Amino acid sequence: MASRIAVVGSINADLVVLMPKLPDRGETVTSSEPKWFPGGKGANQAVAAARMGGIVCMVGAVGSDAPGEMCLAALKSSGVNAEYVLKTTAATSTALVMVEDSGENQIVVTDGANSAVEVDAELLASFDAVVAQFEIPEPAVLQAAKATKGIFIVNAAPVRPISEELSALIDVLIVNEHEFEQYGKPAHGLVIVTAGSKAVVAYQDGEVVAQCQPKKVEPVDTVGAGDTFVGAFAVAYAGGSSIQAAIERACAAGALSTLKLGAQSGMPNSGAVDVFMQG
Ligand code: RIB
Repeated sequence: MASRIAVVGSINADLVVLMPKLPDRGETVTSSEPKWFPGGKGANQAVAAARMGGIVCMVGAVGSDAPGEMCLAALKSSGVNAEYVLKTTAATSTALVMVEDSGENQIVVTDGANSAVEVDAELLASFDAVVAQFEIPEPAVLQAAKATKGIFIVNAAPVRPISEELSALIDVLIVNEHEFEQYGKPAHGLVIVTAGSKAVVAYQDGEVVAQCQPKKVEPVDTVGAGDTFVGAFAVAYAGGSSIQAAIERACAAGALSTLKLGAQSGMPNSGAVDVFMQG
């Protein structure tokens, strides 16, 4: 049976600008015409999970504006239930996404409707897994954690302090290598560390329990690759896959997602991941 996943998180309109090399501090660089894409770590993870075969519900907030409509349309067209996305008086949150020719990126996210996310405890209690990130306020993440009856997965990005109360409720923590350095190695629970094209490592109570080297691809845009990993992992793990099997599937999905410009554009469906893994 398909995994039932709720994503409690951010929805952003991404303004993407391309450049040969990301600017250094104090440096000005030029770019071709900017492009708008649907994004936000929460929405990206919801879309990734839905494309990987999950039954997915997004809990978030957008403004009553054109960027909000773009983001909602993207969720719906991937089959995500967007009924629990609030429409607020605040503008849809925006992310300025700078992508250099190598595929590396830098992102600035503005405050906006993401601050208004509301958690419905009764709704969340019915899902196999609930996924949250840190682009929404801490109280919303904590409420989601308390309401979850299934697996509570946190993608602790961007980095911010994790309270002891929240930490005790997290079943799976997913971070990238830079975030891992800043948080330090947690001694308890399942912690998965992604590292771009390098191996993903899963720690259980501080010991390595699974690893996966992503297959090599020529990335066009790595924005959203981590989110694709999280969404694909959630679907596989909540569906009963082992940690090793779930990270292998998530690695494959993450690699494929980098082949198109825009966080959600390249996110693969489950059939494409099967083919890539066999190839
Ligand atoms: O993880 C990628 C996402 O981070 C982008 O889509 C952007 O919106 C920022 O939230």
